[in-house]
Amino acid sequence: MTRRKIIIDTDPGQDDAVAILLALGAPDALEVLGVTAVAGNVPLPLTERNARIVCELAGRPDIPVFAGCDAPLVRKLVTAEHVHGKTGLDGPPMDDPTMALQDRHGVDFIIDTLRAEAAGTVTLCPLGPLTNIATAFARAPDVVGKVQEIVLMGGAYFEVGNITPAAEFNIYVDPEAAAQVFASGVKLTVMPLDVTHKALTTKPRIDAFRALGTRVGDMVAAWTDFFERFDMAKYGSEGAPLHDPCVIAYLLEPDLFTGRYINVAVETGSDLTLGMTVADWWRVTDRAPNATFMGDLDAEGFYRLLTDRLARL
Ligand code: RIB
Ligand code: CA
Repeated sequence: MTRRKIIIDTDPGQDDAVAILLALGAPDALEVLGVTAVAGNVPLPLTERNARIVCELAGRPDIPVFAGCDAPLVRKLVTAEHVHGKTGLDGPPMDDPTMALQDRHGVDFIIDTLRAEAAGTVTLCPLGPLTNIATAFARAPDVVGKVQEIVLMGGAYFEVGNITPAAEFNIYVDPEAAAQVFASGVKLTVMPLDVTHKALTTKPRIDAFRALGTRVGDMVAAWTDFFERFDMAKYGSEGAPLHDPCVIAYLLEPDLFTGRYINVAVETGSDLTLGMTVADWWRVTDRAPNATFMGDLDAEGFYRLLTDRLARL
């Protein structure tokens, strides 16, 4: 089977960490060309540190990790320590990483890689604000047409917002970047809260991580134990949504997900609904479809896949 080449653009974040581990647990299917950190859940010095911690946890210090943009295109950075803790990976104690951060800027890595690889062979997997992706497209318009696909976590329609009543965090932090990416014409698959809120970490699912009896399993259980407290208190749900691993799970088993190819636009003008993804789910406008917007997933199948792949690290 041809391995899919991917770049993971991320703001770890416990759920980002699990997504990176899932990708590194599937070397037969995915070739992770690099990990680019972006400011989001916590500031960039922490997201790049956390990305290196996760690669080392997976036994993959060979994965190049780059620091990308430290602030949104035009707005002040909004972070989410209230969800992820001060370090962004709160839960278990973490040692500092020993693997080096790459010197090159994450945006330059994205551009250089898209120029070097054959057109249509690299998938971008943004798990945080879309600042790095939009900056790469603006700085090097020639690479836009070379992207195979963007599979991202972000947005919401039926679930509406999690950081404001109208907006999901990744889109809200940099709505201008998101608007540019959604309008780029690149093949786009979106994992919104509508689907990630159905991927809840229940106690049996966390117990299954812990039952792996590995450091990876123990860390993922500890992260999800910490990460779920916020959503359980806010939504009264049985667990926390594992948002970002949905992106990687889609690459591995797309049939776990169902959605619609529709138009999705991003609000950048209104303070009230800033960052809202206006999804034409019922096709009531003549706006051309630009994204496959997911609405449902097989949660049992998702956790089977995730647990099986984590067991291999
Ligand atoms: O709204 C959820 C998203 O925001 C996830 O990617 C989480 O890691 C945070 O970045
Ligand atoms: Ca994230």
